Amino acid sequence: MSSLAAEIKKRRTFAIISHPDAGKTTITEKVLLHGGVIQEAGEVKGKAGTKAATSDWMKLEQQRGVSITSSVMQFDYEGLRLNLIDTPGHKDFGEDTYRVLHAADSAAMLLDAGRGVELQTKKLYEVCRLRKMPIFTFANKMDREGKSPLDLIDDVESTLHMHCYPVTWPMGMGADFRGLYHRFENNLYLYKKDVLEPTVVKVESAADPLIAKHIGEELFATLQEELELLQGVLSPFDPEAFLRGEISPMTFGSAKYNWGVDLFLRLFAQYAPPPQPRVIEGGDLSPVENFFSGFVFKIQANMDKRHRDRVAFIRICSGKFERGMKVHHTRLNREIRLAYANQFMARDRETVEVAYSGDIVGINDTGNFQIGDSVSDGRPVNFAGIPRFSPEHFGKLVVSDALKRKQLEKGVRQLVDEGSIQLFYDPRVGWQDPILGVVGILQFDVLLFRLQDEYGVDSKLDSLPYTLARWPVDAEGKPTRAVKGTPHLFQDVNDLPVVLFQGEWDYQRVVRENADITFKITSA
Ligand code: G4P
Repeated sequence: MSSLAAEIKKRRTFAIISHPDAGKTTITEKVLLHGGVIQEAGEVKGKAGTKAATSDWMKLEQQRGVSITSSVMQFDYEGLRLNLIDTPGHKDFGEDTYRVLHAADSAAMLLDAGRGVELQTKKLYEVCRLRKMPIFTFANKMDREGKSPLDLIDDVESTLHMHCYPVTWPMGMGADFRGLYHRFENNLYLYKKDVLEPTVVKVESAADPLIAKHIGEELFATLQEELELLQGVLSPFDPEAFLRGEISPMTFGSAKYNWGVDLFLRLFAQYAPPPQPRVIEGGDLSPVENFFSGFVFKIQANMDKRHRDRVAFIRICSGKFERGMKVHHTRLNREIRLAYANQFMARDRETVEVAYSGDIVGINDTGNFQIGDSVSDGRPVNFAGIPRFSPEHFGKLVVSDALKRKQLEKGVRQLVDEGSIQLFYDPRVGWQDPILGVVGILQFDVLLFRLQDEYGVDSKLDSLPYTLARWPVDAEGKPTRAVKGTPHLFQDVNDLPVVLFQGEWDYQRVVRENADITFKITSA
């Protein structure tokens, strides 16, 4: 195998999807601990008041003194190079959160075992499903009383219509939690709150009486009963079905006490896929193709307003990146030089000068990039567009000072490029009075603040009663404007027709009236 292929085969690029408070920050910390990036275990403390202002990882950075300046953390684990991409999760939940999933090859779904599948997890899962992405499930907070593991599985299966395959099984819960039974290995992992490493006991099977010696007769009886039930209803684990996103290997534990995080990571290392071929115009592109290529999935504005620089995050999809390399920018149809912006969280600092397919690089950008742009140093490529996701909040900007309209347009353009807001307009009127849409309501606050702060425009937002956007296509999959029964037909920034609806009832009515049209939930 060539060294390029060997490097790429080592890459595992993933994101954690969860609802706020499920424990993403806590498990990220434990994962980094196992990856040797941080040295000592400790609880994440004192986050009150910091959530709204900073990303989850900045929070971690402040608390642990580790340098997490970028949106991706890279570390080595069992001979693999893992890239964990941040999914902005709390109040800063927005389209960005959905889009980063396009840069990942697999996802870890983190559930609070007491709450099961919650709203944001469901929304993020649906984006993963669009891409048929493989998903691991980790049921967290087993140190607390929560839903029974069987109920949790039922919850995932009925809410998400995805099968689960429990690889580990909890022995007890809350104060009675003793550990995990590993169904592939026939090992018991016995955990204690104050002991870092679990005690591992090899057994013959789940029926081995030796188990009772460790967890007591009662828990042993429950374990057998539950596993027997599982045997009857669950099909065997099929790695191929997992790679298609149809079945999720599930593990249990407690991120807070570091129970089961080791087993989750090992399972991840064993089954998570390396970079896969990506869809480009005219076919698929192999990750081991001999030239560098990638696409922009996120643009982050520089927080320092005196420097209008921004950072464009590129997911590498083939070949090797070298700092300062010249590439072809497909949309602009010209060469540009890639100046590496971010110091990644790697153990070996030398490695940050080069990166391979699967990795993410942050590029200093002075306005060349938009979300979805493709670059390459071989033949020009165009990666299948990152879809726009339906916003959930809509409004129009009102400025009192008419002289500031130009500035306003400039600011709005910039924020549209960054992908934090979407813009819809009436083709008969043009760009003058656009409708703006966002996935997370906080995005509107950020918009008003930045227009004021960076462009000196005082504006306010009049909200509009729409709650969803759908992109209509005809029977051949071509965008169409021939939609009956609604006056709310607009265009997005790429001039694709889009219908805005006030709610589900409104949407269903229009669907019924247009049997020959499919209303897509994303733009691509
Ligand atoms: P998030 O990033 O997904 O929002 O969650 P985060 O890790 O910040 O965790 C949210 C809360 O849940 C925190 O409690 C955290 O300690 C707790 N938590 C995370 N994992 C576990 C677990 O396995 N078991 C239990 N019992 N709790 C867990 P907090 O009270 O908000 O803060 P703190 O004072 O505990 O830090």
